[in-house]
Amino acid sequence: MDQTTEIAEAAASQTPRKVFVKTYGCQMNVYDSQRMSDALSESGYQPTDTIDDADLVLINTCHIREKAAEKVYSQLGKLQKMKRLRAAKGRDLMVGVAGCVAQAEGNEIIRRAPVVDLVIGPTTYHRLPEAVKRARNGEKIVETEYAVEDKFEHLPATNREKTRSRGVTAFLTVQEGCDKFCTFCVVPYTRGSEVSRPLAQIVDEARRLADAGVREITLLGQNVNAWHGHGTDGTAWGLGELLYHLAEIDGIERLRYTTSHPRDMDDRLIEAHRDLPKLMPYLHLPVQSGSDRILKAMNRRHTAADYIALIERIRAARPDIALSGDFITGFPGETDRDFEDTMELVRAVNYAQAYSFKYSSRPGTPGAELPDHVSEEVKADRLERLQALLMQQQTDFQKSRLHMTFDVLVEKPGRFQAQFVGRSPWLLPVVIETKSHDNLKIGDIIKVRITNVGTNSLHAETV
Ligand code: 5AD
Ligand code: SF4
Repeated sequence: MDQTTEIAEAAASQTPRKVFVKTYGCQMNVYDSQRMSDALSESGYQPTDTIDDADLVLINTCHIREKAAEKVYSQLGKLQKMKRLRAAKGRDLMVGVAGCVAQAEGNEIIRRAPVVDLVIGPTTYHRLPEAVKRARNGEKIVETEYAVEDKFEHLPATNREKTRSRGVTAFLTVQEGCDKFCTFCVVPYTRGSEVSRPLAQIVDEARRLADAGVREITLLGQNVNAWHGHGTDGTAWGLGELLYHLAEIDGIERLRYTTSHPRDMDDRLIEAHRDLPKLMPYLHLPVQSGSDRILKAMNRRHTAADYIALIERIRAARPDIALSGDFITGFPGETDRDFEDTMELVRAVNYAQAYSFKYSSRPGTPGAELPDHVSEEVKADRLERLQALLMQQQTDFQKSRLHMTFDVLVEKPGRFQAQFVGRSPWLLPVVIETKSHDNLKIGDIIKVRITNVGTNSLHAETV
């Protein structure tokens, strides 16, 4: 059956087939899930938010920490039961596993959870419709060879209606994979080596997003600031130059990018923060630890002092920038002294927001082979202390916004009448109380004044 016949068949049937996509993990998985859902809808699968309605359940998985990976198996256990109940009623259920667990575990997933019909790794999503078709014919599919062709070249572009329905902010993947090989991290193995999407493809997608009403684009990559490409002037461009170029697109009012590595924050990128009002003053720049000994063991290839000096340069270029970071407590060999160095670095930087985790030993990474693993108890204790400090800084940052006036992007209606929810330059949501003559529309960028600071949002009035 070719694709056209399949679409016709699905269209002709009373109830078209439906796909439920469950996403775990990072923003790149959110983006990938949307693209997979778009590709499947071209072959006759309508997306659904109700798992019970689905003919195909696709789990997009995360392998970064053990807990994230284990969630997949507990979800698959539930699907096994669901499939049995369905079978008793003569209805079928197909189960697919995508994402980093799929890439890392491949065949093992089907061995451990026979309910799974299809395993597909992140570099081969353009082959998903074909894989689903084969799985429907009873074949068990495992697609985890790194694709040589560019998946984005072969994935259908999201259509205007769908983009519109997803709102005024959007993700755009510009780079995938990682060559940094931090010794704790599975990403270089699950997502493969660094690949940059070509400039023309990125610009085309950004224009499409703008045309469908998107006002804010977040450029995504596991190592986004390692992006490089051929510029329109024939020279080699980095992320900085790309941002200057995208800032010229009409309709795109705000730009962000995530996640960056300190080693790839080059001068041009810092200049972009200085020069581009569209580039939002918020930067996620993970450091992981404040101890030089641990940073070395992590293969981060920078010291704590390098990181702090870098932050100073970025702040000099864009004084209102808010910083966010990632931290790991209890990396093998981490002593109390090393941990105190991390606390010291956090005090020196003063973060607006941060993510912190207990070290999770991942099979196949060099970190797992290191001596002197730290006990769970110590990891947890350090994490608790670190999080208390980070939370204090986050609260202080939010409180410092009180009475400030700044632009917010109106994203959606609020819970009550005459309320809207907007996004501040620092990502924090802002609940906006409007007046009858404001006439706010989703997608507007308006000036507000902060009247109150809540736990996870700011409250504002229009000015
Ligand atoms: N254990 C704990 N945290 C990890 N991260 C990556 N790998 C591990 C691991 N093995 C964290 C890092 C990274 C973020 C995405 O997840 O802080 O920046
Ligand atoms: Fe993982 Fe390090 Fe690459 Fe980030 S830079 S994805 S932590 S290996």
